[in-house]
Amino acid sequence: DRSNSNAKLEQLERFREDATGEALTTNTGTRIADNQNSLRGGERGPTLMEDFIMREKITHFDHERIPERVVHARGAAAHGYFEVTEPANDLTCAAFLGEAGKRTPVFVRFSTVQGPRGSADTVRDVRGFAVKFYTEEGNFDLVGNNMPVFFIQDAIKFPDFVHAVKPEPHNEIPTGASAHDTFWDFVSLTPESAHMVLWTMSDRAIPIAYRSMQGFGVHSFRLVNGEGQSKLVKFHWRPKAGVCSLVWDEAQKLAGKDPDFHRRGLWEDIERGLYPEWELGLQVMDEEDALSFGFDLLDPTKLVPEELVPVRVVGRMVLNRNPDNFFAETEQAAFHVGHVVPGIDFSNDPLLQGRLFSYTDTQLLRLGGPNFNEIPINRPLCPFHNNQRDAPHRQQINRGRASYEPNSIDGNWPRETPPAPSGGGYSPYPEPLQGHKVRVRSASFADHFSQAKLFWRSMSEAEQQHIVDAYSFELSKVERLYIRERQVKEILAHIDPLLALRVAENLGIDLDSTSTSPMEGKLQDSPAL
Ligand code: HEM
Repeated sequence: DRSNSNAKLEQLERFREDATGEALTTNTGTRIADNQNSLRGGERGPTLMEDFIMREKITHFDHERIPERVVHARGAAAHGYFEVTEPANDLTCAAFLGEAGKRTPVFVRFSTVQGPRGSADTVRDVRGFAVKFYTEEGNFDLVGNNMPVFFIQDAIKFPDFVHAVKPEPHNEIPTGASAHDTFWDFVSLTPESAHMVLWTMSDRAIPIAYRSMQGFGVHSFRLVNGEGQSKLVKFHWRPKAGVCSLVWDEAQKLAGKDPDFHRRGLWEDIERGLYPEWELGLQVMDEEDALSFGFDLLDPTKLVPEELVPVRVVGRMVLNRNPDNFFAETEQAAFHVGHVVPGIDFSNDPLLQGRLFSYTDTQLLRLGGPNFNEIPINRPLCPFHNNQRDAPHRQQINRGRASYEPNSIDGNWPRETPPAPSGGGYSPYPEPLQGHKVRVRSASFADHFSQAKLFWRSMSEAEQQHIVDAYSFELSKVERLYIRERQVKEILAHIDPLLALRVAENLGIDLDSTSTSPMEGKLQDSPAL
């Protein structure tokens, strides 16, 4: 619905092109008389090098593709707004959370993680849930997933994990699901993945629609208020439509019959005015309690049970307008956990710390250089000025004779702003640090099974059956029997003996026999243990 506009959509308006009724031209504006025939030397002769019209057209076409995202390549997005319902200015000086009724434009991209751009929507996988808030103080990106925990505890394991998840390197099979040897090899050797793998074997991994998914920031982040006080926080999106999933048989059939099931649903709902909506909630924890819940708040394989810390709702988000152009908006959007505004800060979660490096790095390649924040969908709504200059595809025409500071030639260079809240400049929370420079996993990250147990036990009988069926189906595709056996005996048995038994029975594994795993006894425990 084009009547649903906001400040971001108005900004994009400047870049929109509507060629209806216009003359066909080259990129330099010369009108084209014949778009059907190339320029030939003689009616039946060779095409001439001189044909600048054909050369320009084919050159542009030859360069149409950019690399797909290295993960989360398959996705769909929409515009909308975030509205504060309960101001959170006791917790944060971030202006977009500070005033009841305040609206901030958002762009939200949902995705699967494993498959390539053209893969099916309804595969068993985690879903990305990335929200870009165009706030008056700069862009804030909440780059989350539809599950509250993650597979690994340290970003240094991410390339290993993704190599195991992606299609196998020799034959690029499978291209759209995780049922294969390398995935199960890695996770069965990596007990810290037990909790998240259980979530991915549950119905949460086959949502019925994007609009019925929860979203989570996963890591503990930090909120800082006007007095400089800090709290740790977990972000939650709760779908107004409720959480709802497919069953596996439906998911598989849809993957064949309508691989666009989720993106079509999002698009059509918005076109029909059935706008998807979520509540934004916060779980707020004192830093002193980082270790007092029986796990470490810095460990991204753990969630904070809502019985211990209830979710405080602060706002709602509505998606009410489809993009005009998939490539320009959805494909070129660059989300980054490091896009923050004053009042929002990081924790030392080692997965989050690594992500702070990874997103810009990958976007430099994917979007062709350091000017990707000038692409219309990525531009902030507030002004942005600095002394960064040049590089491919520069849009700004910077005036002035000096691009450094201090300088005495162009006296009025862009100045630093005193720190928020009084000034509004971003300055990091002065968290005290201590310790030795070491490469270790904290002993407080060592428990890999307690929350997996809780998750399993919180499931209804039908949900447990779906989980047993999922492990049995996925592991039955694994060719190397010792990998199947290792997952059942070394991981599932530690989650719940009955879960292990039920999967073992389906796979014909004898739980009493000694394992044949070549890695037996060499499980990758945390070095701190
Ligand atoms: C992309 C979430 C961990 C690297 C994404 C996207 C989401 C996401 C939602 C898609 C963004 C979009 O729609 O454009 C998460 C979550 C994580 C996690 C919730 C864990 C809690 C990591 C880690 C790394 C990483 C540990 C690397 C060390 C990337 C990269 C992309 C990506 C390189 C592609 C970005 C692009 O090309 O624009 N992630 N991720 N992620 N993620 Fe993560």
